[in-house]
Amino acid sequence: MAARIIPFSPSVTAKEERSRNVNPQQSLTTGIPRIFDEFWTAKQRQMHSLHYAVSYRASFKPELPDYFIKRFSNPGDLVGDPFGGRGTTALQAVLLERRGINNDVNPLSERLTYPKLNPISEEEVEERLNEISFARPRDMSGEEDLSMFYHPETYREILNLKDFLAENRTDVDRFIELIAISRLHGHSPGFFSAYSFPQISIPKSNQAKINKTRGVEPDYREIKTRILKKAKSVLKDGGSEKIRKFGKKSLLTVSDSRNLKEWKSESVDLVVTSPPFLNQVDYIADGWLEMWFCGIEKSSLQGKVVQTPSLDEWMKFISDTISELYRVVKPGGIVAMEVGEVRYQSKLLNLDEILVQLSREKRYNAGQFTIKEIYVQSQEFTKLANCFKVTNNELGTNTNRIVLMERN
Ligand SMILES: C[S@@+](CC[C@H](N)C(=O)[O-])C[C@H]1O[C@@H](n2cnc3c(N)ncnc32)[C@H](O)[C@@H]1O
Repeated sequence: MAARIIPFSPSVTAKEERSRNVNPQQSLTTGIPRIFDEFWTAKQRQMHSLHYAVSYRASFKPELPDYFIKRFSNPGDLVGDPFGGRGTTALQAVLLERRGINNDVNPLSERLTYPKLNPISEEEVEERLNEISFARPRDMSGEEDLSMFYHPETYREILNLKDFLAENRTDVDRFIELIAISRLHGHSPGFFSAYSFPQISIPKSNQAKINKTRGVEPDYREIKTRILKKAKSVLKDGGSEKIRKFGKKSLLTVSDSRNLKEWKSESVDLVVTSPPFLNQVDYIADGWLEMWFCGIEKSSLQGKVVQTPSLDEWMKFISDTISELYRVVKPGGIVAMEVGEVRYQSKLLNLDEILVQLSREKRYNAGQFTIKEIYVQSQEFTKLANCFKVTNNELGTNTNRIVLMERN
């Protein structure tokens, strides 16, 4: 399918647009081509099996970084993501023989990304699992009440594994940790929990309601065989040795995107990233069980994970992040930033237009990057979008809009 290039009409002023009840930001994109196309397949699970190790809120499809990494970097280059999430960009960079640099303010991102960049063999997982005393008796009276999610014996096994992993941190242990995180809650018998949501950890009270509606109590789910089965499927595409080679040359940092202290100035060739879209996702609430399992205190992240309802605050946050990217990206390097459309004050706001505004205003990022074009991936809704009832132009994000900027 040929790409459609739709430049914005310079003849429509912001005032005119406002009177037509169109988002006034639209005119700010004048002159920048938007390319509408299906740049990558809408099909699910087409990339390396390691990408599908674990769910994460608002993660992008691996096809997205794949597309930009292939076009805008070379083997050996440094490819970064300051909002790393589950490490999709870093993993795809490593799979394409680049070095990855992954950052996120939430240390959970490092826990999810490291094992994917340093995968081990199925046999090593099996051998290690045989050394862990999952069923060891223990006093559970002082533990967090998770009885709405887990049968008491399943819970005992999870706690024994959690304690083991707090002490043992080899690459095999870290891989087991990743797989265990992915099994904490979900809708099929392959998960440790009673029937639940796979993509988000729901509040305890909601889980209790689900159990009541379904008329069930959590049944016993032996965790060792479930971990092994999932590990096998995650490792099925192979290539661990090559991945580890580039994984070892990669860097994982836990910082605020506005101050990437461990990223060297003018070192990064390409950034492929996606920031939080205002407060559309609550990353702390939606990952609470994963964070509990890893011993990450939710309170330590309050105020650090940026999820703001204020457009002004969001613009300042993104502008400061772009200034930091200006510091770390090489001159001529590229930033591909994926943003969406959000409902804001009862209108639909295209955040790509806000990025254009930032790039033009002196008090924001003027002079740092030149926006070359905006890619709009046209595709069918994903299963996840449907399950969250995201329908066209109604609730949350339903297009991928990638703003391509070149560092001046
Ligand atoms: C849209 S998600 C990125 C998902 C990622 N592209 C993936 O495929 O998994 C945005 C991420 O930004 C992180 N984040 C929020 N505030 C941050 C900040 N101030 N500095 C760095 N990361 C932040 C969140 O923890 C979340 O993981």
